[in-house]
Amino acid sequence: MTFPITRHRRLRRTPAMRNLVRETYLHPHDFVYPLFVVPGEGVKTEIASMPGVYHYSVDRLEEEVREIQALGIQAVLLFGIPEHKDPIGTSAFETDGIVQQATRRIKALAPELVVVADTCLCEFTDHGHCGVVHGTGASAVVDNDESLALLVRTAVSQAAAGADIIAPSNMMDGFVGAIRQGLDEAGFEEIPIMSYAVKYSSAYYGPFREAAQSAPQFGDRKTYQMDPANVREALREAASDAAEGADMLMVKPGLAYLDVVRVVKERFDLPLVVYNVSAEYSMVKAAALQGWIDERAIVLETLTGMKRAGADLIITYHAKDAVRWLNGQY
Ligand code: PBG
Ligand code: ZN
Repeated sequence: MTFPITRHRRLRRTPAMRNLVRETYLHPHDFVYPLFVVPGEGVKTEIASMPGVYHYSVDRLEEEVREIQALGIQAVLLFGIPEHKDPIGTSAFETDGIVQQATRRIKALAPELVVVADTCLCEFTDHGHCGVVHGTGASAVVDNDESLALLVRTAVSQAAAGADIIAPSNMMDGFVGAIRQGLDEAGFEEIPIMSYAVKYSSAYYGPFREAAQSAPQFGDRKTYQMDPANVREALREAASDAAEGADMLMVKPGLAYLDVVRVVKERFDLPLVVYNVSAEYSMVKAAALQGWIDERAIVLETLTGMKRAGADLIITYHAKDAVRWLNGQY
């Protein structure tokens, strides 16, 4: 089968021919769109490092929800910036917490829109860590098991507010098992868990931490989030979460970790979610604003790459633009 018998270009000759043999498609159902909700009234403020992404107060969510629905995007991922922060993140699990309020509002506006609640404490703790901290300075430790109890309370309160999917992101050991048990005991056995199973300690979360005001006030997240150098460890993380009852697994970030996406996809039969995180978005936006890249082509190529690597779902700040481009609008 050598040249000239084999001519790969035969199947690339025309757009229709290329369509016939295309292996990967993007669809609006592939996307989950993140939303940032803040206290107050009448707020719609663009996040400086994430052009096109906004902070919304609960009363302003309607226009955003209508736009998302009109585009055919079926799911949103909710993040909240609370009024008050304290050492244990109390505002994460209050009945009238910001995420709980936003969830009730969105479910009232659009009952069929899937609300995914990010379940973590870092936006709600005054120190910005994803769990309870003991000690100070170099001897500060994030207590795993104590943090689990607060995480469970948060998940249950989110489900009680109407969240359709619980997405724990705090990387404490045993969080899926603890949350599964907590949800079941509270009567939410039908609510699935989308586990941030494979979450690396990444510089790519920078713009998000500004948007969510969740940067750690001291130290870093390296004792609970994963070392970027490791891939076998990703399989151990995925295995324990699957064993504890996760309904979906996530790999995060996306771009620098598509090899991890591929191996997790090959080893586990659970739906696989890839999080195309904040700095991945910001870098594209910055270059596009300079006129250095073709934003549309770059974004669709990147999202296609994530799907080709094995993503069943992609959480992305590009979701609204991507759907417009796929629909041939602008
Ligand atoms: C909270 C959380 C983070 C992100 C999602 N959930 C930040 C972090 O772990 O520091 C990052 C999302 C993004 O960068 O877009 N635990
Ligand atoms: Zn966190």
